[in-house]
Amino acid sequence: MELPKVLLAPMAGVSDLAFRLLCREYGADMTYTEMISAKALCFGDRKTKALLNYEGEARPRAVQLFGSEPETVAKAARELQGDFDFIDINMGCPAPKITGNGEGSALLKNLPLAGEIIEKTVKAVDVPVTAKIRRGYTPDWDVAAEMAHIAEECGAAAITVHGRFTSEMFSGKASLDAIAEVKNAVKIPVIGNGDIFSAEDALNMFETTGCDAVMIGRGAMGNPFIFREIKAALCGEKINPPSIEEKIKTAKRNVELVVKLKGEYIGVLESRKIVSWYVKGIHGAAEIKRRVNSAKTLAEMEGILDDLLCRAYN
Ligand SMILES: Cc1cc2nc3c(=O)[nH]c(=O)nc-3n(C[C@H](O)[C@H](O)[C@H](O)COP(=O)(O)O)c2cc1C
Repeated sequence: MELPKVLLAPMAGVSDLAFRLLCREYGADMTYTEMISAKALCFGDRKTKALLNYEGEARPRAVQLFGSEPETVAKAARELQGDFDFIDINMGCPAPKITGNGEGSALLKNLPLAGEIIEKTVKAVDVPVTAKIRRGYTPDWDVAAEMAHIAEECGAAAITVHGRFTSEMFSGKASLDAIAEVKNAVKIPVIGNGDIFSAEDALNMFETTGCDAVMIGRGAMGNPFIFREIKAALCGEKINPPSIEEKIKTAKRNVELVVKLKGEYIGVLESRKIVSWYVKGIHGAAEIKRRVNSAKTLAEMEGILDDLLCRAYN
């Protein structure tokens, strides 16, 4: 399976099925699920299974697993391989509740274990296995190229590099030089990730690092249109930014999809943050956020967005 070029990043609490469907519609070539605990999956955890819903999502699609036990990650991957075309292993999550268990980016402090997880998973499945890493844990522990090399040796089909150290969380700027260094160190495809907020940023990521694909995270939140823009830019076509009407209509569709998938109570609660991403920068956003934060039903949520739409037309 060839690696698609423009990808939606795995984002816990963001890249649910509703948002993934919208991103695909706007041009993302592939999306990743939110990170899935390999251990919880193997225990048959109901909430974890719900995160794996892909109904209506076209192929290829990727699932991301996290875990620190090679056998458990391999077992979870085997369970999922029929449903997903790429199995990605999270080696970049900086959240203490994950790293505290030796998972996520804690694996960058234990490269032999990281390699063993990849190797066992590759052996367990017939689909491509990829890994997503940061530059290292701290600036004095810069292991991206070494880790990428290990991943390649262990059979990984591609590697995603977020150009920051774990200790940086999301501060400062992602280093494109670090991604270029990994690209020079391995033959497998490299996916460049970090701070792509526009089509121009994506082109710059391709040009500066030589990466094979780009992955967009925060730049897509409330902005699935970024995929249409990147695809147009890659073809040398004119970029079509969304109008305010398109933003509001898409926010409404996102809300309706979330409610359809998660039920009205949870869907409306989650829609509060979703709407706030879409209306960012729109005149009257503060008032909309206030109203949305007290909405309790889908009808109320739709009414608020319809009011905003009327204002946009007048
Ligand atoms: C809300 C949020 C949730 C995230 N969850 C995950 C995750 O589940 N797995 C993962 O590998 N990275 C996760 N990330 C990191 C992103 O995938 C990405 O590497 C990072 O945001 C840098 O890319 P960006 O600058 O395009 O946002 C998350 C980031 C954010 C903002």
